[in-house]
Amino acid sequence: MTRTINLKLDINGTSHVLAVDPRATLLDALRENLALTGTKKGCDQGQCGACTVHIDGRRVLACLTLAAQAEGRQVTTIEGLAAADGSLHPVQAAFLEHDAFQCGYCTPGQIMSAVGCIFEGHTGSDSEIREYMSGNLCRCGAHNGIVAAVREAAELAR
Ligand code: FES
Ligand code: FES
Repeated sequence: MTRTINLKLDINGTSHVLAVDPRATLLDALRENLALTGTKKGCDQGQCGACTVHIDGRRVLACLTLAAQAEGRQVTTIEGLAAADGSLHPVQAAFLEHDAFQCGYCTPGQIMSAVGCIFEGHTGSDSEIREYMSGNLCRCGAHNGIVAAVREAAELAR
């Protein structure tokens, strides 16, 4: 019999009580318990960035975070980024504008990471953006669009 633990998680401003295996990652809890499938699993070992979410406003890899570690903290996923009326976050809009994705699989992680990158102020130049977005892999090679989108969204945020 698998032991489960009850966790109270704050996801995108809504409180959820989940019964999960204590070994469950935040990534699996989001995808499998809460059906929030916007956060992607590209590697499950911290090497691709597809699972990037925010905890207390900072970007983290959900595949290397136990769901239990998120208890009592505020988690934001790609589904929580748009405004309540559905209008896109400026980073989402900039990704559309600059064709900063192709297949879309890395995109939620790229966007969450981009919001973090801008918040951290690592947008002084294209090379700084590239360096601080380098934890998010993109096999479709959308990097030029991603950098352009981050640059534009950072300018709007100033
Ligand atoms: S799935 Fe988390 S870094 Fe790849
Ligand atoms: S858009 Fe396909 S992996 Fe980035």
